[in-house]
Amino acid sequence: MPGRPDFDPGAAIGVFDSGIGGLSVLGALREALPNEHFVYVADSAWTPYGERRDEIVLERTEAITRHLREAHAVKALVIACNTASAVAVERLREDHPDWPIVAIEPALKPAARHTLSGHVTVLATRGTLASGKYAALRLRVSATAPQLRFTEIACDGLAAAIEQWALDGDGTACDELVDRYLAPVFHPAMGFPAVDTVVLGCTHYPLIGEQIRLRVPTTVALLDAGAPVARQTWRLLNQASLLRPPSHDGPALDRPGQVRLLATGDTARLQAAARRWLDLPPGDERVERVELASA
Ligand code: DGL
Repeated sequence: MPGRPDFDPGAAIGVFDSGIGGLSVLGALREALPNEHFVYVADSAWTPYGERRDEIVLERTEAITRHLREAHAVKALVIACNTASAVAVERLREDHPDWPIVAIEPALKPAARHTLSGHVTVLATRGTLASGKYAALRLRVSATAPQLRFTEIACDGLAAAIEQWALDGDGTACDELVDRYLAPVFHPAMGFPAVDTVVLGCTHYPLIGEQIRLRVPTTVALLDAGAPVARQTWRLLNQASLLRPPSHDGPALDRPGQVRLLATGDTARLQAAARRWLDLPPGDERVERVELASA
């Protein structure tokens, strides 16, 4: 194709989030694409994004994207953050028309297929829920299934509490927030038909899936978008003939994909989270600090 840059199939895939939440997506990516290398950036100097102004999220997203493309020559980008996807994906696609970019969105479409009661609760950040992209998604899904009722809850503070929990192991703040946001949804006074599907519309939330699970009836499904994002990444790379072949580095070096972890501020949270949620070989959870100034 004229003008199409030659990406190296052996190059890594860039993945980023405001913090540790994107590890829930990285886990799904590693499962679906075991031969791929990944460079993960946690914007720990600026987390959380969910209650920040759009301009800030856009600037941070652009700074991280530039770094991944210029310093790491990544062959594709996965925005493992619903808030950044909602605010910035269109701009990134305009600025990098030649580059495979995968964004994430709350799993409303899977929820529409799954729900029997027709009542779906969406947990996400304030930024995601206020975005035009979310409104458009909800409209599209509702147009094909007008009987569905989506109830959104902006979970202020929850991503920050999850970041803190990863570091100190004290889940009290997370539990309190989940109780505060979910108890009214499942209160008996809400009557029937009840919510049978909860969308985890922020990539941090699957990291506390077990705590959330304890606070909802066992019949309720918790849906996140990690696996669909991984499938979409595979599709885009496959279409562009950019999947990394197992023998890319030659038989002697042939080993499964590796992960490089970067953080723009505090490195300890990402390191603790990687230990807990990524099954990396010992030593590979090391986190490098990168200074990434916004433009
Ligand atoms: N994990 C991100 C998301 O999916 C951002 C959470 C935050 O930084 O507020 O929206």
